[in-house]
Amino acid sequence: MIFSNASLKNYNTFGLDYKANGLVIIKSEEEAVSLVLEHNELIGPVLVLGGGSNILFTGDYNGTILHPEIPGIKIREKEGNQVVISAGAGVKWDDLVDWTVKNDFYGLENLSLIPGTAGAAAVQNIGAYGAEVKDYIFKVRCLSLSDASVMEFTNQECRFSYRNSIFKQEIKGHFLISEVFFRLSLKPTLNISYGSLQKEAENIGKLSQKTIRQAVINIRTSKLPDPSITGNAGSFFKNPVISGEKAENLQKKFPSIPQYRESSGETKIAAGWLIDQCGWKGKRIGDAGVHEKQALVLVNYGNASGREILDLSEMIRGSVYEKFGIDLEREVEVI
Ligand code: EPU
Repeated sequence: MIFSNASLKNYNTFGLDYKANGLVIIKSEEEAVSLVLEHNELIGPVLVLGGGSNILFTGDYNGTILHPEIPGIKIREKEGNQVVISAGAGVKWDDLVDWTVKNDFYGLENLSLIPGTAGAAAVQNIGAYGAEVKDYIFKVRCLSLSDASVMEFTNQECRFSYRNSIFKQEIKGHFLISEVFFRLSLKPTLNISYGSLQKEAENIGKLSQKTIRQAVINIRTSKLPDPSITGNAGSFFKNPVISGEKAENLQKKFPSIPQYRESSGETKIAAGWLIDQCGWKGKRIGDAGVHEKQALVLVNYGNASGREILDLSEMIRGSVYEKFGIDLEREVEVI
């Protein structure tokens, strides 16, 4: 289905009402192949947009947006203690997690309730509560936007790192993900490395995959705004990774600074804390604001423009740099 001069309001979780010259809803890989082969129907540059939960539009999009709604979750193979499953790029991420938990396939439960789609999860290497999706992705099936050839990227070829992958770097804009394959465990294995997760799960019942999923849902709903009510795109910035030496110096000055040692020897600092310390939490400029319970999340209280949200983010970035000498990098993609 191709729409022209289409509203993007329902295609970005900030709820911004910009327009695109063209919007194409893709229901299958075959549909994507024919679309690329008949490329003349597409107007201007092309942007693949999943759930729109990690994007900030600052104006109308003078090009064509491809929105994959490819459905389907399948069991592909079981071997020993492992199962390989696949999900169409358009499957809602949390529907997939819910399905894996109902089937007793272990691995994705810590990633419960993250907005977005299965396809976008691979682009972004989503992560939360001690888990990252890269540890479960087996391969990613894509289609070239230049010649419609279909390719599969192994986990290694995806070059995953913190909120990053080859799909955001070297081959950005050149492929459309049609399907993502995950390798999950049939043997109960629970990840309770994150702070209060175990305690939260045990408050619900016996520690299990189901209570972990419920605990993650409870933590997320208590801290993060629901994008269907208040426009937002989750963490606006990444947690900065700085040298161990710089982190030690900062800790001398700010003893309570939350920091996590990475295996590389570098240190990850909690951006939410830095922003909070600069006094931004709960602040609002017009309809653009900083969430009152998590300073890393910027919100649209109704009628903010993309530009106003971007301006607010730049002010935050300036204060963090001034106070801590750390330049925050955006997690959200600005268009
Ligand atoms: N903190 C504050 N004030 C705040 C926010 C956080 O002091 O306003 C402190 C917390 O007290 C804690 C630390 O900062 O000591 C870290 O906070 P939290 O555990 O809430 O997680 P985060 O590092 O802020 C990351 C991810 C989230 C993910 C959570 C939970 C990034 C950029 N964000 O946030 O992911 O849900 O961990 O694992 O890595 C997203 O990417 O959109 C997202 C929401």
